[in-house]
Amino acid sequence: MLNELKLVEAIFYYSTEGIIVCKNYSEIVMVNPRAAELFGYSSDEMIGMNIDELVPYEKREQHKQLRSNYSMNPHARPMGKNLELYGCRKDGSKFPIEVGLSPFEINDVKYVICFIIDITERKQAEEKLKEYAELLKRKNEEISYLNHVLESKVKERTKELARVVYELSQSKNELAQALEKEKALNEIKSRFVSTASHEFRTPLGTILSSVSLIQRYTKTEEQEKREKHIQRIKTAVSHLTEMLNDFLSLDKLEEGIVRYKPELINVTETLRQIIDEITPILKKGQHIVYKHLSEKLQCVVDEQILKNILFNLISNASKYSDEDKPIFIESKIDDNTLIISVKDEGYGIPEEEQFFLFTRFFRANNVNNIQGTGLGLNIVKKYLEIMNGQIEFKSKLNEGSVFTIYIPFQISEK
Ligand SMILES: Nc1ncnc2c1ncn2[C@@H]1O[C@H](COP(=O)(O)OP(=O)(O)OP(=O)(O)O)[C@@H](O)[C@H]1O
Ligand SMILES: [Mg+2]
Repeated sequence: MLNELKLVEAIFYYSTEGIIVCKNYSEIVMVNPRAAELFGYSSDEMIGMNIDELVPYEKREQHKQLRSNYSMNPHARPMGKNLELYGCRKDGSKFPIEVGLSPFEINDVKYVICFIIDITERKQAEEKLKEYAELLKRKNEEISYLNHVLESKVKERTKELARVVYELSQSKNELAQALEKEKALNEIKSRFVSTASHEFRTPLGTILSSVSLIQRYTKTEEQEKREKHIQRIKTAVSHLTEMLNDFLSLDKLEEGIVRYKPELINVTETLRQIIDEITPILKKGQHIVYKHLSEKLQCVVDEQILKNILFNLISNASKYSDEDKPIFIESKIDDNTLIISVKDEGYGIPEEEQFFLFTRFFRANNVNNIQGTGLGLNIVKKYLEIMNGQIEFKSKLNEGSVFTIYIPFQISEK
């Protein structure tokens, strides 16, 4: 028993919690060293003090009230009941505490034993924790703000990038288009060269033949013949010049913007000129038989283009016929349409190849031994397109061919 008492005494003295025993809920009757240390008194000083004196000054009145309420209904109260309690040291300074109360009675006298823990450090830790939580919250807010800024920046940049990509693809397209155009232009240029040189051959042939004939007419009385050939050369040269002007100004036949210059012409006169110009380059013994079949003689067409078309058709009729063969030309004007046919009794075109006749560079199998480029009829077709005209043909192998052109025109009523 003695040992047990000693043990209890030891617990009381060496406890790390402050222990204070109050009589009648107010007067301090026992204080352990830890409690004295907490409040900054000596144990002796504390004996006899009112417990209220250990409460911060401003809370003492309230504490009295609490104490009297407690005395009505004394009960054990464990520590840490979410109350913000403070102790008051001898020097008046405050410190946070947790208090557990246990009431008991000895010989009808009421006592309360108070267990007191200094929670300064815990409070400080809690404060720190709060501070950190606050800091964390602020940092989170900052981060989410930065995220927001970053997101909108990313959006902005993405937009910008999309714009740049779009612009790049645009300029790529533009470049490809420019390249395409350049290619097409080159193609047109080379076609132009071949077309031009093709069309120049007939008048150049006329000039050559007339020049060689002039050379032969050495006698004075042959002046008239010389004059005739000089006139032919002049016509051929002017034809050449006109063609050259056309080719150079029209930004190419191929683009379909050949200047179409319709004028009022007398069909028979124009055809006679053409026949006269082309006759020197016909094969030996070949001759042209020309007939105009309608009363009307005048029409409105581009004379230059008409000449070019007929030069092509007549030169084919001659080239693809034997010597001494005739070439028949007929013209008429029907309901504002000029109709001209060129007929030969030549080699004809194999039926199975006729479909390709107007294709560029097409040459039929039966004429392999005759020079040609296969451009003439293709050019004729293009000329007719410019004039809204049409071409038809009939051909039979070894019998001959007939090509007929239809050129509509309008008579301007002045
Ligand atoms: N009157 C014709 N009789 C027989 N075949 C013809 C006649 N006209 C055209 N052809 C056939 O059509 C082909 C194409 O004629 P086209 O006038 O386009 O070219 P080409 O006469 O061969 O050469 P060029 O470019 O010198 O005129 C000729 O190669 C020939 O096979
Ligand atoms: Mg030809």
